[in-house]
Amino acid sequence: ATGMAAGKVILLGEHGVVYGRHALALPIPDVVNVTITRASELSHDLPGEFVDLLLNELGVEDKGWQISIDSELPFGKGLGSSAAIAVAIARAFDNALQLGLDDERVNAIAFASEKLAHGTPSGVDNTLATFAKPMLFRNAGGLQFESLDFDTPPPLIIAWGQETGRTSEQVAGVRKRREQSAAHFDCLFDEMDRLSRQGAELLQAANWEELGALMNICHGLLNAIGVSTPDLERMVALARHCGAVGAKITGAGGGGSIVALCPGNSSAVDTELRRAGYQTLVLAGKQVS
Ligand code: MEV
Repeated sequence: ATGMAAGKVILLGEHGVVYGRHALALPIPDVVNVTITRASELSHDLPGEFVDLLLNELGVEDKGWQISIDSELPFGKGLGSSAAIAVAIARAFDNALQLGLDDERVNAIAFASEKLAHGTPSGVDNTLATFAKPMLFRNAGGLQFESLDFDTPPPLIIAWGQETGRTSEQVAGVRKRREQSAAHFDCLFDEMDRLSRQGAELLQAANWEELGALMNICHGLLNAIGVSTPDLERMVALARHCGAVGAKITGAGGGGSIVALCPGNSSAVDTELRRAGYQTLVLAGKQVS
């Protein structure tokens, strides 16, 4: 049996979303595919605790399964691959064993696995992995999201280099720095919230210039809370230099990916990023809305 799930790209609001603010995120649809087959014992290449937790949540007692992952997403680059793997595994077992899981239950199971991975996740990754819809997301004591409808998908390029960002470390680092300057950090998170809400309107209006400007401001805020690196700054600068109207870290930072909004110049930005040694994913037209 197989199960599919989406990755995600956060356009605005990462980190603030851990503190109850809004984030604007888009799915990268159908990029993670899990196949499970009968085997004499449990076999997979994933962390043992992660699979144990999932099987436990799913109520699967018979562990004679081989779990194989086919993913177009790079791992540890801020694109939601661990949540997507959890969702795809839950769906594969649902298909194999007719567990009758609805999307809410799949999302709750993946959220539990995200908690295991990094303590205090907002739930944005698992929600995007499950529902695969562009959304304005918030977790203020419960997952809330508003799906967004639009006809023209934003021309986005995602790029990443060698550095891997560990979400747990980045979220913990932000928490520690916030403890030292709570009032300043809360202002930055409030501003991220405003950017996300305004960005949702600009996205639906296909106003790329203004949306790009908000992405640039958001990148500055992410730098201010300490999750940028010299290599991320280099990628952002390169994308802007080649004509991207907005470029920023996406996901937890500390390594991982940037996202650039590139109306009319996707191929120039893509070519330059690749020439500089980065890997890219061109998203225009791939989104579902
Ligand atoms: C990770 O994709 C996004 C963060 O905001 C963490 C989270 O929301 O759980 C950095």
